[in-house]
Amino acid sequence: MMKVHHSPVLLNESLEFLITDKSGVYFDGTLGFGGHSQGILHNLKNDGRLISTDVDRDAFNFSKEKFKTDDRIKIYNFNFMQIDIISKIESISNYNGIFADLGVSSFQLDNPDSGFTYRMEAKLDLRMDKSKVVTASDIVNSFSEEELADIIYKFGEEKNSRHIARKIIDRRKTKKIESTTDLSELISSITPFKYRIFQALRIYVNDELEALKTFLTKSVDLLNNGGRIVILTYHSLEDRIVKESFKYEALDCICPKDFPVCKCDKESRLRILTRKPITPSEEELQNNIRARSAKLRAAERI
Ligand SMILES: C[S@@+](CC[C@H](N)C(=O)[O-])C[C@H]1O[C@@H](n2cnc3c(N)ncnc32)[C@H](O)[C@@H]1O
Repeated sequence: MMKVHHSPVLLNESLEFLITDKSGVYFDGTLGFGGHSQGILHNLKNDGRLISTDVDRDAFNFSKEKFKTDDRIKIYNFNFMQIDIISKIESISNYNGIFADLGVSSFQLDNPDSGFTYRMEAKLDLRMDKSKVVTASDIVNSFSEEELADIIYKFGEEKNSRHIARKIIDRRKTKKIESTTDLSELISSITPFKYRIFQALRIYVNDELEALKTFLTKSVDLLNNGGRIVILTYHSLEDRIVKESFKYEALDCICPKDFPVCKCDKESRLRILTRKPITPSEEELQNNIRARSAKLRAAERI
């Protein structure tokens, strides 16, 4: 079994919010290398169940091996937005808790073969699911200047998006941009925040924000009364989606403010448990620098 160094972020806090019944049924949408899934299993009795999934084939294979002797867990290689399909296959109609720890794992970041790192020479790929057709390289070598600028602005929140897009177009006239270092060198004179451009391409290639929105809505449909949803995010775009989605689900009326009486059928489906997001302690940050942007939001089905 390959060695993987990964410390699960906000582990105790996640488990405290998530687990309300030690014999319950739980879903981990971002299995990765099994850090949080292992924590959930530690807290479940023999009759508890956990369904975990990851789009990344390496993560799936690794965790399948890791948990092969524990029959409380079933492991899938699906996108978490297919939670409804997985649940049908497993004949599960409701969960006591649904969890996701978004983004990429330390293994994906540290392993040049997975193409997520921009600190090492690697193919400019950025697909979590390698069966998807379009890579980041395809995008930077074929999209128009305007399309590239939009992606970099929208998903990387980078103000110099037009300038960067122009530079990409100029470069590819003479040489295709194929590696992480090709792109990294090209943009380093324009922005010190290179990660924003890689983040933008990664979000676009994996359609991460749409997957998250779909997952959140389907998850609320699938929670028991009193069931919990716990999500860890690592950047403001993800956090905003979770925050807005919880807020919308908590509302019991969406009529315009000037309506004298409520005319809508909106029902409140969630009670928000974290008015402000939970962030890692100083101690956790000292041990795991990758936890620095983490935010935990939790809510309960009503
Ligand atoms: C931060 S890591 C999770 C680490 C895990 N909690 C652990 O402790 O080992 C995020 C994982 O989610 C996976 N992932 C991201 N988006 C996904 C999606 N839409 N569906 C399924 N897996 C996804 C990534 O491939 C990655 O392995």
